Amino acid sequence: MGLRNIVIQGDPILKKKSRKVEKFDERLNILIEDMKETLKEENGVGLAAVQVGVLKRVIVVNMDGEIVELINPEIVEQSGTQEDLEGCLSCPGEYGITRRPMKVKVKALNKDGKMVEYTKDALLARCFCHEIDHLDGIIFKEKALRMLSPDELRKE
Ligand code: NI
Repeated sequence: MGLRNIVIQGDPILKKKSRKVEKFDERLNILIEDMKETLKEENGVGLAAVQVGVLKRVIVVNMDGEIVELINPEIVEQSGTQEDLEGCLSCPGEYGITRRPMKVKVKALNKDGKMVEYTKDALLARCFCHEIDHLDGIIFKEKALRMLSPDELRKE
């Protein structure tokens, strides 16, 4: 177990669609533990498996200090809209404004294969959408209403 390298934009794997997890085995557990460690080390809010080079539908999200895994996550309900600043560990130093739902309900499985459900708003709703997009090969920049200019970045 340990830290994994983050795949940086330009690597074609980031454009690929991740596959559903069907086997809940030790290999999956190790991937999840490594992703949690890596997210913690990077001080990120969320991380998708493709960002460590694994095309499986797994994301980890920091929910108020606790890092939780979501396997085969799906947004089952959404409401409202928000426009806010977004970045990505795979796009260091780049930030943009995206439009996302204000609130989302996500269904997923945990590492034991049990159904879990989270309803979150604001930052975490954005994070769920951002990470699930990664599983479909979409990077936030493609959806950004605009990216921040170097001048604006200096002020952030
Ligand atoms: Ni990202």
